[in-house]
Amino acid sequence: MAVLVTGGLGYIGSHTCVELINAGIDIVVIDNLYNCKKSSYDRIKALVGKDFPFYKVDIRDAEGLQKVFDKEKIDSVIHFAGLKAVGESVEKPLEYFDNNVTGTLVLLDVMRKNGCKKIVFSSSATVYGMKNISPLTEDMEVGGVTNPYGRTKYIIECMLKDISASDSEWSVCLLRYFNPIGAHKSGTMGEDPNGIPNNLLPYIAKVAVGKLEKVNVFGNDYDTPDGTGVRDYIHVVDLAKGHVKAIEKLDTHPGLEVYNLGTGIGYSVLDIIHAFSEACGHEVPFVFAPRRPGDIDICYADPEKAATELGWTAQYDLKKMCEDTWRWQSNNPDGYRG
Ligand code: NAD
Ligand code: UD1
Repeated sequence: MAVLVTGGLGYIGSHTCVELINAGIDIVVIDNLYNCKKSSYDRIKALVGKDFPFYKVDIRDAEGLQKVFDKEKIDSVIHFAGLKAVGESVEKPLEYFDNNVTGTLVLLDVMRKNGCKKIVFSSSATVYGMKNISPLTEDMEVGGVTNPYGRTKYIIECMLKDISASDSEWSVCLLRYFNPIGAHKSGTMGEDPNGIPNNLLPYIAKVAVGKLEKVNVFGNDYDTPDGTGVRDYIHVVDLAKGHVKAIEKLDTHPGLEVYNLGTGIGYSVLDIIHAFSEACGHEVPFVFAPRRPGDIDICYADPEKAATELGWTAQYDLKKMCEDTWRWQSNNPDGYRG
């Protein structure tokens, strides 16, 4: 039996495919290639030295999904497929609700029709909203989201809670990611955003490699030690390994569980710029700029529940996260290129 990985050629999905295969788990990948390159598939295969099936399918295409279920023996799903740019979601809310919410509805319906009732879902720390105080724990109230992207994550969490309450055969794991950064240590796989990056690490990496001029630090008057925003950055390979633990948990644990995947450590924007400067061997230029609307001062996880119940803790430190990002960026200044 195999795990169906939706959005498996994207940033987190591709790293998770590598860890699943390394753990001896069979996978089938689908992706509509909207935000990734097909060559990501070749790089995963080259890293693990193994072939696995890939289908270009959109999660909103019930017939396309059914064909995959007809052809492959799938007994669980890790669901990464989705749009994730906060700013874009404010401009195009309908596209976000259609892709993320409708897409998940279609996927869940096809799963149910095929008797496949185990799912790990990529949620986000964004569901904790602006009011909860870090360290964030899974039992805090969620839903105070500030943008359509965050709302899609919250709505899908609610859908999965309702489904699992209605039918005890479902096993559901909601993983709330903090800030995934880093790349595979080989330097052959990493984050490859289209256009100008919105998130901090890809932006810093583009400045370091000379593709952008300087980093804009959004706000230096937050209530934090150096005035810049504090986040819980987690190595993408640690995050990927969390999915292996979650999929193993589904096999023995019906019902719904929620886990934070973070390190529990908060770093400021300036901490990150300094660590990246060390990793790349030259100063990364930056300027202070106004706060970005919707940002909060501090956000980091309490990672205890994942440690006790999944036996998972993040292993890699900030130095490693920056070194691996730099290896990927400097080896691939133009990303996957096709
Ligand atoms: P990504 O864009 O690199 O990967 C998502 C993949 O899904 C892409 O390859 C894209 O082509 C595919 N996809 C999108 N819509 C699809 C559809 N309708 N049908 C089939 N495939 C589709 O993003 P990522 O950073 O790897 O994120 C993966 C998941 O984790 C997303 O759901 C995202 O919202 C969530 N997440 C990401 C972060 C982060 O910082 N990267 C943080 C929290 C949660
Ligand atoms: C953002 C999203 C969040 C999403 C997450 C992962 C917002 C408000 N939040 O989180 O919903 O789940 O990405 O995709 O967009 N920063 C700069 N300069 C930059 C970019 C960022 O100073 O050019 C700062 C930010 O103000 C923040 C920190 O760096 O303090 C991290 O920002 P970012 O990487 O965008 O992640 P989040 O805002 O935490």
